[in-house]
Amino acid sequence: MIEQEKIEEILIPENQIQKKIEELGNQISRDYQGKQLICIGVLRGAVIFLADLARYIKVPMIIDFMDISSYGASTESSGVVRIVKDLDENIEKKDVLIVEDIVDTGLTLDYLIRMLKSRNPASLRVCTLLNKKDRRQINVPIDYCGFDIPDKFVVGYGLDFNGLYRNIPYILVLKPMYYQENGQN
Ligand code: IMP
Ligand code: MG
Repeated sequence: MIEQEKIEEILIPENQIQKKIEELGNQISRDYQGKQLICIGVLRGAVIFLADLARYIKVPMIIDFMDISSYGASTESSGVVRIVKDLDENIEKKDVLIVEDIVDTGLTLDYLIRMLKSRNPASLRVCTLLNKKDRRQINVPIDYCGFDIPDKFVVGYGLDFNGLYRNIPYILVLKPMYYQENGQN
């Protein structure tokens, strides 16, 4: 899946991720008891996390996806966001949970929250697997968070560099030469 020489550090091993997702799923199930949820996965990074999380959510739920792309270099968010694929579901008066892989600057999530709120959901919450607090440029509310991580570029478990490494079942830090501009894959 990945050559050992490319790995700087394994940040979160597979068993810790799975344990945390079970906890998050249980908490979400308790909080939404008696309700029906719409979980919105943000493509493509959140696909793996949402697929696992969904299996720990015990209330009725609908899964939908949104694809947004931010302009800028591949490892940085610019805050200028465009919708590539909109939701299929109408979220008006529904209980909505945004599922993200990582919140970094917060610019993408801030845009998404403002856009979804304008559609008048009954409630709107955010669940992210990873949170890079130190990088925040704008304050965004996070209701469910898997792990706070340091300011390092991570891949695996849905997170990519140039589209690669999403299928790795743990979170790792690549050696810098493998994610710098003009770096090799
Ligand atoms: P934000 O708008 O800066 O919060 O960035 C959010 C998006 O940037 C995430 O959904 C990821 O697609 C991407 N991103 C931020 N940090 C990382 C990282 O360490 N590895 C891979 N992708 C990242
Ligand atoms: Mg993303």
